[in-house]
Amino acid sequence: MCGIIGYVGTRDCVPLLISGLKRMEYRGYDSSGIAIINDDKIHIYKKKGKIEELEKGLLQNPHSATIGIGHTRWATHGAPTEVNAHPHTSFSGDVAVIHNGIIENYSELKQALLLKNHTFRSDTDTEILAHLIEEFYEGDLQKAVIRALHRVEGTYGIAVLHAGEPDKIVVARKGSPLVIGIGDGEYFVASDLAAMVEYTRDVIFLEDGEVGTISREGLTHTTLEETRIDRKSTHIDFSLDQIEKGGYKHFMLKEIMEQPHTLEDTMRGRIQVDEGNIILGGLQGHLDALKKAEHILLLACGTSYHSALVGRYLIEEWARIPVQVEYASEFRYRNPLIEKNTIAFAISQSGETFDTLEAMREARKRGALCLGIVNTVGSTIARETDGGIYLHAGPEIGVASTKAFTSQVTVLTMLGVLLGRQRGMSAEEGRNILGDLRKMPDLVARILRTKDDLLDIAKTFSRASNFLYLARGPNYPVALEGALKLKEISYIHAEGYPAAEMKHGPIALIDRKMPVVFIATNDNVYAKVLTNIEEVRSREGVVIAVASEEDKGIEHLADHVLRIPDCHPMLMPLLTVIPLQLLSYYVADILGLDVDKPRNLAKSVTVE
Ligand code: F6R
Repeated sequence: MCGIIGYVGTRDCVPLLISGLKRMEYRGYDSSGIAIINDDKIHIYKKKGKIEELEKGLLQNPHSATIGIGHTRWATHGAPTEVNAHPHTSFSGDVAVIHNGIIENYSELKQALLLKNHTFRSDTDTEILAHLIEEFYEGDLQKAVIRALHRVEGTYGIAVLHAGEPDKIVVARKGSPLVIGIGDGEYFVASDLAAMVEYTRDVIFLEDGEVGTISREGLTHTTLEETRIDRKSTHIDFSLDQIEKGGYKHFMLKEIMEQPHTLEDTMRGRIQVDEGNIILGGLQGHLDALKKAEHILLLACGTSYHSALVGRYLIEEWARIPVQVEYASEFRYRNPLIEKNTIAFAISQSGETFDTLEAMREARKRGALCLGIVNTVGSTIARETDGGIYLHAGPEIGVASTKAFTSQVTVLTMLGVLLGRQRGMSAEEGRNILGDLRKMPDLVARILRTKDDLLDIAKTFSRASNFLYLARGPNYPVALEGALKLKEISYIHAEGYPAAEMKHGPIALIDRKMPVVFIATNDNVYAKVLTNIEEVRSREGVVIAVASEEDKGIEHLADHVLRIPDCHPMLMPLLTVIPLQLLSYYVADILGLDVDKPRNLAKSVTVE
């Protein structure tokens, strides 16, 4: 995700800003830029692509300054281009802003500014903010920022410069982290401790709704209502590596733990619970085609394929359209049939998976409208599809996909409701589903709080040679995903099956050395899954059950129970996958394996 660094003091800030930006590279980004003040003028340098490009440009055209701000951008509004890179400036060029987050009412604000003859260079929401601050500027930057922020809906971490106040950086936060670092006659600001820990370890964490102004003389810290805040600084003493991983041992664990936030981000601005409606900006131009669609084709690989399988249950149930789910690699080579009015969705975290890209091209060649469900903004699949839905889950660095899966399932849930509402799903049913979907971040957080229970179970089973994962209905793809997660990072052989298929073969494998993970939630096949559990027990298999918090009876059947809260049965995969992600993570960690970079695997598979 985006990164912010800022400095005011006595050193040359250019190398410092560049090294701060490099410290945040691990978060993923697509462009970078800095703004510095020299001779009471703001100078901006931006580049698409790697920070080295920015650095090269600055070396050819050297500049020094003692105040400046820098940003790495992970595109949300507008393609990853140099024009869309931050910092963004106001109409006159006197205000420069860097911003993490999303301004939800940006088009409304833009319309109002257009009426006042503002013109815009970029497609970003951030540029609007720079113009708005200039509109309100009357000689006091902090006041102008506060007035502008009172008009803004959405999330932000910002740092702002004004040429007329060349010794100040104004910063503010709502929903996007910012930390102020205190040095000797110098101040820093960053969205990520990693960017400044080399220079200072005395920091003040900004809270939501707070504003600060840093200058060589000191710090002014207030609320948005201008009430003064006197917060003591905190001394941090952890290592850089720990900071980049947010204090977690591995990116995978960080990304698992982030899911309550990533689910919020995926849903933000897209759900109208009261109306039972969904608004997906990237599909607005295709609503007619979606209404006429007679077939849906989901193309994906690996974990994304598993989310597509969940999507099939949801879309067929709510919209009653036949959904075909295909391994992208198989689809390409089997002379596929594409019926009239087919809409294909390419589902990919990276947006660069070669097989998915080629399958999408094949589907288009054969007449399908191709849309994307992608995490990485500006990736090849995102660019080549005719429209689509971004996950907004932020960069996923651990090779094993976790938060992308839950965001994909969330997007497919929203898509299912959108298609359903176009085909007669009542507003009330829409409201019920979306009301429950809105609760998912809290329910996921509740499961994550029990993570130590998973550690104990992982200790018991880390030496097993095989695992079986069994489930039915929309949880069946979660069984496949649980098995994939375990095998790819722990190298333990694991298989996922529809529970009732067990008796057609896999049951032969069951003995007292075989842990069998069942997903047995409160749904229409619960009783059937219990029968399968009995079948495993009678062959001395060891049962680990993922079951409802309310289900007391399961304790008599299972050797270990992983508890999850109850929710709408079709939304269960968003919850049942969480303990399975944690189980795989802990098993691999106990075995001392390289969890974030498992052998033979790459994060983005750009080869056939
Ligand atoms: C599993 C995993 C892979 C990817 C697959 C598709 O944890 O990460 O199976 O899901 O390579 O990648 P994307 O979603 O980037 O197309």
